[in-house]
Amino acid sequence: MRVVILNSPDDVAEYAADLFTRQLTRKPGSVLGLATGSTPLKLYEKLIERTARGELSFRRASTFNLDEYLGLDGTHPQSYRYFMNRALFDHIDIESGRTYVPNAVSADPRKAAEDYEQSIREAGGVDLQLLGIGVNGHIGFNEPYSSLGSRTRIKTLTARTIADNARFFADGEFQPNLSLTMGIGTILEARQIVLLATGRAKAPAVKDTVEGPVTAKCPSSALQLHPAVTVLLDAAAASALEEPAFFQHIEELDQALSTSISDAAS
Ligand code: GLP
Repeated sequence: MRVVILNSPDDVAEYAADLFTRQLTRKPGSVLGLATGSTPLKLYEKLIERTARGELSFRRASTFNLDEYLGLDGTHPQSYRYFMNRALFDHIDIESGRTYVPNAVSADPRKAAEDYEQSIREAGGVDLQLLGIGVNGHIGFNEPYSSLGSRTRIKTLTARTIADNARFFADGEFQPNLSLTMGIGTILEARQIVLLATGRAKAPAVKDTVEGPVTAKCPSSALQLHPAVTVLLDAAAASALEEPAFFQHIEELDQALSTSISDAAS
């Protein structure tokens, strides 16, 4: 895992925006895995700004979102489809037919889950997968004790996640307790993964992700098994790590190495 500790949430978003820009420059038809939640919003703002400035184009890209609330259609303001349209898709040059979110209103959600996996395969697999993290270590909606080999499926949300996400729902409004989410096995098939975490509330989950044992109790710890994961943290999210100085040291060496490689190439 490459663990990068940055000063602020804005630095995290900037670093992530650079990764997306590099990916789309190298491969304009990239397949991007996207996430909801408040953490990626700054990144999406930066991607919108860069697209407006002509530094970036999604014209040939496809996107697959991690998850959706079961039973909410895309016109529901709390659906993740609605969120993604508002936060990103409506403001960039992507073809809407190539923005995929699990179909959570299908009469047959199990079939919808299989179809989602099939669509990812047909697109050629995810090149770069963006992740946030829940305070209990969930990724997508893969709650603690999810199988580390799980595929896209219906997943019951924990009371903790329902409480955390209640802030988005009005008093008395129906809040789903089921979701359709990519599995951990699905996520681990992405060629490259970037996880963003900001704020002190995420610090314990970040510690378990990076330094803890690989365990279904903390689903994000499964990322330790993947060969190309970058974890981008602000100082608050990194505050529970036992070895922050070590990660900073490695990052400095990596930066120096990539500078000397690019100097040698030019
Ligand atoms: C939801 C999403 C996750 C996201 C998490 C954290 O539960 N399903 O993909 O990572 O929220 O959200 P936030 O970034 O708002 O803390």
